[in-house]
Amino acid sequence: MSREDEDDERSRQRRLEEALEVKSLRRIISAYLNYPEASEEDVKRYERSFRKLPFSHKALLPHYPSKFHSLRRCISINSYFIFSMLQAFDPPIDMSLDVDSCEDSNPEQPQAPNENLLSREVDGFTCQSDSASRRMSCAKADETFHGERNSPKCKMLDHMINNEEVRAESCHNSTVRSFPKDMGNNKVAVESSGNDAINFHATACSSAHDWLDPSLQLNVPLVDVDKVRCIIRNIVRDWAAEGKKERDQCYRPILEELNSLFPNRSRESPPMCLVPGAGLGRLALEISCLGFVSQGNEFSYYMMICSSFILNRTQEIGEWTIYPWIHSNCNSLSDSDQLRPVSIPDIHPASAGITEGFSMCGGDFVEVYSDPSQVGVWDAVVTCFFIDTAHNIVEYIEIISRILKDGGVWINLGPLLYHFAEMYGQEDDMSIELSLEDVKRVALHFGFQFEKERTIETTYTTNPRSMMQNRYFTAFWTARKKPAAAAKHSTE
Ligand SMILES: C[S@@+](CC[C@H](N)C(=O)[O-])C[C@H]1O[C@@H](n2cnc3c(N)ncnc32)[C@H](O)[C@@H]1O
Repeated sequence: MSREDEDDERSRQRRLEEALEVKSLRRIISAYLNYPEASEEDVKRYERSFRKLPFSHKALLPHYPSKFHSLRRCISINSYFIFSMLQAFDPPIDMSLDVDSCEDSNPEQPQAPNENLLSREVDGFTCQSDSASRRMSCAKADETFHGERNSPKCKMLDHMINNEEVRAESCHNSTVRSFPKDMGNNKVAVESSGNDAINFHATACSSAHDWLDPSLQLNVPLVDVDKVRCIIRNIVRDWAAEGKKERDQCYRPILEELNSLFPNRSRESPPMCLVPGAGLGRLALEISCLGFVSQGNEFSYYMMICSSFILNRTQEIGEWTIYPWIHSNCNSLSDSDQLRPVSIPDIHPASAGITEGFSMCGGDFVEVYSDPSQVGVWDAVVTCFFIDTAHNIVEYIEIISRILKDGGVWINLGPLLYHFAEMYGQEDDMSIELSLEDVKRVALHFGFQFEKERTIETTYTTNPRSMMQNRYFTAFWTARKKPAAAAKHSTE
């Protein structure tokens, strides 16, 4: 193949990757936009069941119709939060890309979109994106959507966006809902990886939000909308006072460990800490507030859209109200428990006291941090409910070892609920599901020395008032990379 052919092939590959990313992002945005409709379907189902009751049974539940009414109100308020979040989102890729034409040009490529950010080549880890289209846009919550204004979907959006009651209840400072152009010195989720992923600077008022046009909205499977509901529960874990107990179980041991392992943190040259699988970013923010240059890494657009909104756009504590628990009628002690509001965020990220250099890096951990520029960069790597997300956990451990400085520490807290264990898909699917004993054996091989180990009991995105509380007995450890590990890698 000539050099020119190779270049053509590379740019064709790149276009295809971008097209797939646009497709996956459209699907995720559609999942968010489908939330009100899918939730309304649930309420209709409850109503249908209720109507089937004999009159005498109905008479025992006279409050039930008003519960349906309340559920609808809560759905509207959650939807208002979701739409405000989407309006504030500036896609890091050109959403007008003609996805179908790219597909046609290469029928052999797998077309299934996945929900994750595609990592691209890392050209140095400058954490700066030069593309204006990769910046966060500034949108006003009362901006109207573009497109077919008479479609039923659009009417529903109009209803929510223009409903003063919903707006007032959902957003506590709805009169001042214009997003700041810049948060000055308190800029929060700062940059993305140099791999061209998302840039979270809150600087430019750019996009016209054409990608929110209802005509582009896809009908997504219900399982996608379930992911939106999971995000709502994750918001409680990371950004609500109700989540404090869970954060104390999961994040506090990690923060205490970092605090004691790095006693003399210097302001001039703070230690560097990476948090792969950072979710909605609270742990990464807390680490930053401790005096580390903290970087969260996350590959799910579902998560990134939400974390960037909370980190960059919230203006005050308790600015938003959501109803996270309305989607399950099971294990409720009372309707008022199920219908209780939750205020978010419990802190104002921009004034939480972050250390300069705090960033969220979008992309797959393996792709981004396998880059040679990452070798020996980090003083600490913190994995919280992350290592079991791997197709190949051995690869995760190898990368963690490689990117740590000699003498650097890996702090882990989490179970081994392997995410791909239940995938009975194509033959090339891979899921290596090691026991804890084997995980540690692999870590020893990659030059780790275990300094602390214990079991910590915790929940994960659990409704604290539910009659069902799943508990994990998580493995918590601190392992230090022995200097010899570096020599080992170089001979491999
Ligand atoms: C179980 S959640 C834990 C989130 C957070 N650490 C917490 O404790 O709440 C795992 C997170 O890792 C992310 N993730 C999974 N695989 C990843 C990968 N290869 N690269 C980056 N992030 C990944 C998921 O999107 C998800 O947000």
